Amino acid sequence: MTAVDLTHGLDEQADAPIFEARDLVVDYHSRGQVNRALNHVSLSIAEGEAVGLIGESGSGKTTLARTLLGLIRPVHGQVTFRGQDLYAMKSIPRYRMLGRDASLVFQDPRSSLNPRLTVGAVVRDPLTVQRIGTRAERTDRVAALLESVGLPAQLVSRPVRALSGGQLQRVALARALAVEPGIIVADEPTSALDVSVQAQILNLIQQVRASRRLALLVVSHDIRVIRYLTDRTAVMYNGEIVELGSTARIHDDPQHEYTRTLLASVPSLKR
Ligand SMILES: Nc1ncnc2c1ncn2[C@@H]1O[C@H](COP(=O)(O)OP(=O)(O)OP(=O)(O)O)[C@@H](O)[C@H]1O
Ligand SMILES: [Mg+2]
Repeated sequence: MTAVDLTHGLDEQADAPIFEARDLVVDYHSRGQVNRALNHVSLSIAEGEAVGLIGESGSGKTTLARTLLGLIRPVHGQVTFRGQDLYAMKSIPRYRMLGRDASLVFQDPRSSLNPRLTVGAVVRDPLTVQRIGTRAERTDRVAALLESVGLPAQLVSRPVRALSGGQLQRVALARALAVEPGIIVADEPTSALDVSVQAQILNLIQQVRASRRLALLVVSHDIRVIRYLTDRTAVMYNGEIVELGSTARIHDDPQHEYTRTLLASVPSLKR
């Protein structure tokens, strides 16, 4: 494979980092075997920046996202969040800090949200857990959040199971925005949705970002999602970042053999 200068993408980054991962190694152990899911991975995300993580299934995208969010302790390397060394902290203060400032949006809202809860309860939950606002303030905030993701206010008392996939992903986004985080990490946020609904959710994520200073890490195997939403892209292959740079540059002039293969598999995007 071609050697690629990984420091190049770092020059294109302007603001102070919100997340900084240095030289991460993550191993999974199963049945006496060790599977190295991250092999010396470094990545930083600036405040307000949108970064894409692309790569084939099993390349380590979700593992990297979860390690950044304080959920998987690396065997080597360091993750800092706003300058704080995450894995040097005890788990409760670590979860508390990240819960106030970094939200996750999952691939399939039907499996990530409790179907029996009402929409209002789902969106209010992070505010309650983080003890943000009074009861009345939380109620007002929930109404404003639903409006900001284009959902009618009367959905607040509807159970989650009664919603469509697109409505549910809007609820997941409203919930993610509740604490006014500095970053949202979205792992395949649209891949469980119909094509027409996918476009609506991508639009919504763009609108939300434009209205506040919000960083974004989007995990996807779909270059179109990454191209639409992000400024910089990291290409993962076999537990490593093999290419890192501006999304436009990677899209128009991929340097790494693997990136070229990945782009070539999406015919509509070839120039
Ligand atoms: N909980 C786990 N236990 C053991 N191995 C795991 C676990 N989670 C992931 N792996 C392995 O680690 C590697 C990276 O997996 P990961 O889920 O990070 O990939 P991914 O890029 O997110 O893939 P996908 O596109 O399918 O979601 C794979 O080889 C996977 O089989
Ligand atoms: Mg994954």
